[in-house]
Amino acid sequence: MKKTEMISLSLSLSLGLLASYTPEAMADDKQVKQQSMLQPIVDHVDVIAHRGASGYVPEHTLAAYEKAIQMKADYVELDLHMTKDGELIAIHDSTLARTTNVEELYPDRAPWSVKDFTLAEIKQLDAGSWFNKTYPEYAKKQYAEEKIPTLQEVIDFIKKKDKNAALYIETKAPDVYPGMEEKLVEFLKKNGYLKKDKVIFQSFSEASLRKLQEIIPEDIPLIQLYTPKMIQGLNLDDVFNRAAEYAEGVGPDKSLVTPAFMQEAHERHMIVHPYTVNTMDEMVEQLSLGVDGMFTNYPDRLVELNKKPYISHGAASGEVTDTSAVLWARTSQSANVQFEVSEDSSFKKAITKTEKAISKHDLTVQVKITGLKPNTIYYYRIQALPGSHQVYGSFKTAPAENELKPLTIVWGGDTGGQGKIPPFKAFSAMADLRPDFFLFSGDTIYADNATPAVPNPPSKTIEDFWAKYKENRTDPYLRKLLQSTSIYAIWDDHEVINDFSGPFEPLTSTGFQAFTDFWPMLKERSSSGKLYHKFSWGDTLDLFILNNRSYRDPNTKLDGQDKTMLGQEQLEWLKKELLNSDAKVKLVASSVPISIPTGKPNARDGWANGDNINPDDKTGYEHEFAKISTFIRENKIKNVNFVTADVHFADIIQYDPDHNGTVDYRELVSGPIGAGMGQPPTLDPTFGPERLYAEGGFFNFGVLKVDPGRKQMTVEIHDENGKVHFQRDFPIE
Ligand code: G3P
Ligand code: CA
Repeated sequence: MKKTEMISLSLSLSLGLLASYTPEAMADDKQVKQQSMLQPIVDHVDVIAHRGASGYVPEHTLAAYEKAIQMKADYVELDLHMTKDGELIAIHDSTLARTTNVEELYPDRAPWSVKDFTLAEIKQLDAGSWFNKTYPEYAKKQYAEEKIPTLQEVIDFIKKKDKNAALYIETKAPDVYPGMEEKLVEFLKKNGYLKKDKVIFQSFSEASLRKLQEIIPEDIPLIQLYTPKMIQGLNLDDVFNRAAEYAEGVGPDKSLVTPAFMQEAHERHMIVHPYTVNTMDEMVEQLSLGVDGMFTNYPDRLVELNKKPYISHGAASGEVTDTSAVLWARTSQSANVQFEVSEDSSFKKAITKTEKAISKHDLTVQVKITGLKPNTIYYYRIQALPGSHQVYGSFKTAPAENELKPLTIVWGGDTGGQGKIPPFKAFSAMADLRPDFFLFSGDTIYADNATPAVPNPPSKTIEDFWAKYKENRTDPYLRKLLQSTSIYAIWDDHEVINDFSGPFEPLTSTGFQAFTDFWPMLKERSSSGKLYHKFSWGDTLDLFILNNRSYRDPNTKLDGQDKTMLGQEQLEWLKKELLNSDAKVKLVASSVPISIPTGKPNARDGWANGDNINPDDKTGYEHEFAKISTFIRENKIKNVNFVTADVHFADIIQYDPDHNGTVDYRELVSGPIGAGMGQPPTLDPTFGPERLYAEGGFFNFGVLKVDPGRKQMTVEIHDENGKVHFQRDFPIE
């Protein structure tokens, strides 16, 4: 197996080098050691002009190559075919029909295969007019003069235009044009192009690449191209083991690039060059996955992204009230980030705010937008200046105090655990419901589980924690959800480490920082590590977000009157807020369940001690929950619903702790969105649970609809495809 010097993985990994930085950005952006596989293993993301700058100029013409060079592409991509008289020419299709006027000139020669025409005949053809007709916005009269070039003409032309320009040549299977590889190699040698940095070879044909491997110098890279069909159903590990025998990298269809794919490549020191990536949004998505270069018809766009700042991992809005919202974004390098918010999607009248993204927060940036109207849809547009890339999204503000409006929310948790890696389809199904907001019920990352972002867990450094959030934001489905509604995010244990107790865990502050860097969050919630907060949606719903981690006694402590999960202050706050709430529905967002035993025997992590499954377990936090339960009951606080994820199955439970036949509160459990799947165990009986539904073994999320007009609340559990598995109406008392 060859390993090119060009791909000096170990060096760039250890330095954590990223794509080109401007000198100004370098001053702020520390280069840090990261283990993430989701970053380039080269120090420059290559811009490969696909068929020349073929988005602007007719493909595979000298004009297209000239444009690519002008745009500062690193490579000009060439597809080669051979004429009847053995000349290598640059053309993509095996026939002349699509990109020339061959049908007019030679009407009797269908199917107009390249191999059936001599070079002299081919030179009669017009290789540009088709483009003028198809793309009038880019049409130019002179394109009608363009001819199909020979490889010799391409090389002569490119040499003249830029002596440093390099070629990225695709070969077909050896049996299509027997002897083509040898001929090509001889040809390049003669012209001084059979050199590292002058040429890369690519092919869908393994046979062609293996043939080339025998006859070219070791340091010239070979890239195995893949269509989705080629590797469908195959084990990625096997695919990469095989390619690594002869190739230095892979060129996948862009849809194949996922964190898992990147890990397979980068852990073998193989580069990834996806094709054909044309919009800036697509390019940014590929960059977030850590690709090492891209084939594009629009090289200027990737050239810009290599230089100027851009919004690197989508955007989010969160913690909306009736008059405010927090907007979140992350940039690729230190930059001023401009946020525009408007009621009108064309942004004619917008509120504009600018905030600097700095490396201390991993280039994440948040702004609070105030002065908004209640119950109103707002559009936002975010741009890292002076870059031109823009990210769009929208959210809805809460209804005004005392207002009653119908409401639909989605909730769920658990993403990236037990070997499950984005993308997670459930996020897309959630977005399709156009919810008023998304409650992310914790375990938004699994800092302590192995994924491509942190192959050697647990996360210890802040860079590890940040890498986990960035990994989940490579998910187009998550970005779709976050950019179409707002979020309230709560944390649970895996934002730090399994089953942790905040005051006793050394990683707490690191995990906390990353959590608050990567989710839109009001200062009053995130300052002093508080996190618990109340948000109101008019009189329809009050959301009480708990912080179940920062104040808890160790799980191993024996339960008793003095054992706490919430801490005295938070407990009193919750009771007071519940008592004062006029909302039709009270939703208490807890990151752990009430009567589903979690954690370990004698170190229970949720409220329940689980002594039903481990008799005489003296841990859990039942004494504290009993205080909440009694308070709700004695004060006749109605319509209280605890909502959580955490346990990796769905469960809908109602509680009658005093066994008087009246339901006092409910518990709504969904998940996982994207983590290992579990099965419902027996419930701890302490608080009188009655199970209405329980189902495991599937990715799922919850939907809560409140219809104040009909005095009804509906709870649903949907699978990742949006199919409803459970639905039940509950009267609002
Ligand atoms: O060579 C990478 C990419 O170009 C493969 O697709 O069909 O455009 O040659 P195609
Ligand atoms: Ca090609």
